[in-house]
Amino acid sequence: MPWYRKHTTSGLCSSGLYCLLCFRLLAVLNTSFLFGGLGMAKTRLGTSDLAVNRLGLGCMGMSEFYGESDEQESIATLHAAIDAGIDFYDTADMYGSGHNEALIGRAFTGKWNKIVLATKFGFIRDDKGGFAGLDCSPDYIKRACENSLQRLNTEVIDLYYAHRVDPNVPVEDTVGAMQDLVDAGKIRYIGLSEASAEELQRASREATITALQTEYSLWSRDVEGDILSACRDLNISFVAYSPLGRGFLTGAITSRDSLAASDFRLHNPRFQEEALEKNKAFLSLIEGIAKDKDATPAQIALAWVLNQGGDIFPIPGTRKISRLKENLAALDIRFSEAELADIRSNLPTAEGGRY
Ligand SMILES: NC(=O)c1ccc[n+]([C@@H]2O[C@H](COP(=O)([O-])OP(=O)(O)OC[C@H]3O[C@@H](n4cnc5c(N)ncnc54)[C@H](OP(=O)(O)O)[C@@H]3O)[C@@H](O)[C@H]2O)c1
Repeated sequence: MPWYRKHTTSGLCSSGLYCLLCFRLLAVLNTSFLFGGLGMAKTRLGTSDLAVNRLGLGCMGMSEFYGESDEQESIATLHAAIDAGIDFYDTADMYGSGHNEALIGRAFTGKWNKIVLATKFGFIRDDKGGFAGLDCSPDYIKRACENSLQRLNTEVIDLYYAHRVDPNVPVEDTVGAMQDLVDAGKIRYIGLSEASAEELQRASREATITALQTEYSLWSRDVEGDILSACRDLNISFVAYSPLGRGFLTGAITSRDSLAASDFRLHNPRFQEEALEKNKAFLSLIEGIAKDKDATPAQIALAWVLNQGGDIFPIPGTRKISRLKENLAALDIRFSEAELADIRSNLPTAEGGRY
């Protein structure tokens, strides 16, 4: 085996804790490190050789779900995000029925070496954009991957997630097909989204899983317990989606009237009239902490997720340049153990399900 494979694929190096080539000491301590010279601190995803800034960017809202978007503004935001040091971008083939991947392909032409891109497959959309089911069967995955590569206009996908575990396909078969894509050089690493602890364990027996992406925020804490523990046991990084509670935890959405008719949140249980009112208890708490820390509510919401562990990578979504720097500043906010315990003891329970 060549030395570089031996030392870049965690688990293969036998040089012990202090091997400089495979960063094993740093991986064990679960700390960030400066990767490639001067720049922002980067953290390894799972046991892969992908290292990213812990705050990524979710691109979904640039194509769908949160009202109208302006394509020029989205592309300008993607470029400004690279300039600001954001290097971990999240999309899926189903966002805007392919629109989001195509947008990213245009925005990142000539810039792929500066970023790590994650996309997902599984949800099928019909011609009118309706949801037509979930397919994570081996044949489908191979076709979906070719289509994503074409839309993205790139040769390889850094991190490819199954958007959901398909109840009709054993997870072993899904990740087995994804491993074939790794072997064929079409994708670099494998991820799952919304998988259970048991599914993570089964999938990990079949292939190396680099990341699990699931919702995690002050108002969505279901992953605490067995799912986060399984990730830690299996060396799987946790990518936290909707860390701003789909915008609610920033305090920017206090009434349904501010949402466009096409906005998905109008159908989300937590944004129904009565639930929205009850969920304002989160805002009172967050605004109090923001005052103490001289920060904005969005920064507190993100900092809370970041402070839950060095293996957690929040991917807040924004279409606006002005919000990139605000959100990035969350990386500088630290909570002591006592502060975290205090926040936890005051956290309300969310009114309404996640979907
Ligand atoms: N795996 C899955 O099933 C799944 C599901 C949902 C999402 N995701 C991924 O996770 C990413 C993030 O999740 P998300 O977009 O659902 O929710 P989010 O990050 O919790 O919130 C996004 C919303 O917050 C607003 N926002 C962002 N920064 C703000 C700030 N500083 N102040 C006020 N408002 C702010 C955005 O509005 P503007 O855009 O107008 O700034 C947008 O409406 C998505 O883009 C997607 O890539 C994955």
